Amino acid sequence: MPQLARRIGRAKPSAIMQVAEKAKRLKAEGRDIISFSIGVPNFLPGDHVYAAAREALAKDSGQYGSNRGSDALLDAFLQHLDQVGLTGYTRANLATGIGAKHVIYNLAEALLDEGDTIVFPTPYWTSYLDIAEIVDAKIDLLPCPASQDYKLTPQQLDAALAKKPRLFLFNNPSNPTGMVYGKDEISALADVLAKYPDTWVITDDIYNRMVFDGVGYHNFVQARPELRDRVIFIDSLSKTYGMPGWRVGFMAGPESVANAVTTMNSNHITNLPEVVTAAAIAALSGPQDVPQQKNIEFQGKRDQVMAALSTIPGVVCPQPQGAFYAFPDISVAFGKSHGDLRIESDVDFCNALLQVKGVACVPGSAFGEPRAIRISYTCPTPQLAPGLQRIQEFFAELA
Ligand SMILES: Cc1ncc(COP(=O)(O)O)c(C=O)c1O
Repeated sequence: MPQLARRIGRAKPSAIMQVAEKAKRLKAEGRDIISFSIGVPNFLPGDHVYAAAREALAKDSGQYGSNRGSDALLDAFLQHLDQVGLTGYTRANLATGIGAKHVIYNLAEALLDEGDTIVFPTPYWTSYLDIAEIVDAKIDLLPCPASQDYKLTPQQLDAALAKKPRLFLFNNPSNPTGMVYGKDEISALADVLAKYPDTWVITDDIYNRMVFDGVGYHNFVQARPELRDRVIFIDSLSKTYGMPGWRVGFMAGPESVANAVTTMNSNHITNLPEVVTAAAIAALSGPQDVPQQKNIEFQGKRDQVMAALSTIPGVVCPQPQGAFYAFPDISVAFGKSHGDLRIESDVDFCNALLQVKGVACVPGSAFGEPRAIRISYTCPTPQLAPGLQRIQEFFAELA
């Protein structure tokens, strides 16, 4: 039998999906399961989004579309960029993709030759590692433990960029930690980036509208406009608009990079579907009450999660200020047991919690931080308090 390409040996199925599927299986078997595992926003977009999709369906052109994205979609995204403080871009700076994941994959192909170095902070969103491995990049991880609020320091960035990596990948607000970099923190990191003109920068900011406590969203290009010629901003409709299954992602950056992603699209996907494009334009340009309301709800849920975690001795959780994740360090449980279930790792912890209490969380090792677990708190509101209570009980029962 012929062999598969070596690249496939490096590709791994998503660890997060594996937990979510296990929880689903137990639920199907009749177990009472509360899932804090998968990072879906768990709400639907406004009616105007569905109306726009239906109208597009009624007027279907039956044609292929633009590889970059339709002009109307690009214009809607330009308007959105303006609102988040990124001005001065034109359609030529933009490209779209089947979700931000696809855009990031295209960028990895476009910016990294085999053996080039990509550097990013740990904890990281799992797909960064998986994509970097598929394109056979060298990976330089920058550890950012709970003791430094899971945030990258300018000193760490400086030391990493001095080694001249091809690409620095940054994520703000963060999945899995929910951390948000403040204006001064972004500015200090941008000052370091300015010293290293040979490194591309991807800033994956898909949670930019999901920020709490009035911290605001800030980015490198606002801090240092001269970085515009090598910073690539990533956005997506998945989380903000409750549209993960519609698969719409964007980039804004230098024209050469937007052209490269457009070329990749012409060879992979050709274009975003017409109906999806119409829905995306409606989401970006229409009323913003659904995302705004959800953001307020998520802030309330964050408070509930933090209040529960603060009652558990030894658990440390830097306060998330965005997205919908908390990332507590649960290593205090290591070396203990629940009944005959011994806990030596984050994976043991998550398996035991699921088995004993029916609560699904994702082991932190999926994000490069094996002392933590990720709690995604987008479940229906009535499930949140019981789920948190079960986690509290689980800790109390460890011996
Ligand atoms: C940080 C981050 N970037 C990108 C993505 C992918 O988003 P999309 O659904 O647009 O592919 C996710 C999804 O979980 C994410 O958390």
